[in-house]
Amino acid sequence: MSERAGLLAEAKAMAANAYAPYSGLRVGAVVVDQDGVHYAGANVENAAFPSALCAEATAIGTAVSAGARSLVMVAVICLDLPGIQPCGQCRQRLSEFGVEQVITEGDGGEPVVHTLDELLPHRFGPWKPEAT
Ligand code: THU
Repeated sequence: MSERAGLLAEAKAMAANAYAPYSGLRVGAVVVDQDGVHYAGANVENAAFPSALCAEATAIGTAVSAGARSLVMVAVICLDLPGIQPCGQCRQRLSEFGVEQVITEGDGGEPVVHTLDELLPHRFGPWKPEAT
């Protein structure tokens, strides 16, 4: 199995832990840092539905909380809606930590790679007056 297919499989396993009773969309994400360490996350919803936490946000939060500051790629998958791409807010979150490659599922379940430049051209930032 290729590295990208492995990452998608990891994201898929994580998606099974999603808490998504409102949207019914179980999403999993895995971010990889510059040392090759993987951090996974699932989406977490609540009754005030718009305040849901995306899977990418959970994965990034776990990575950054563990001390990671430089992320190179992300894999994102939804068990209930094939072929999803990261939402706009998550694209900006991924940009913050340097993610360049975004791996998602193609029509046949194969890994598809997009660059963040493709997904979020002319982006805001960096803006880090006192990055910690
Ligand atoms: N969701 C993600 O986890 N990642 C995205 O990039 C898009 C949306 C989740 C959030 C919410 O739980 C559900 O999908 C519907 O928006």
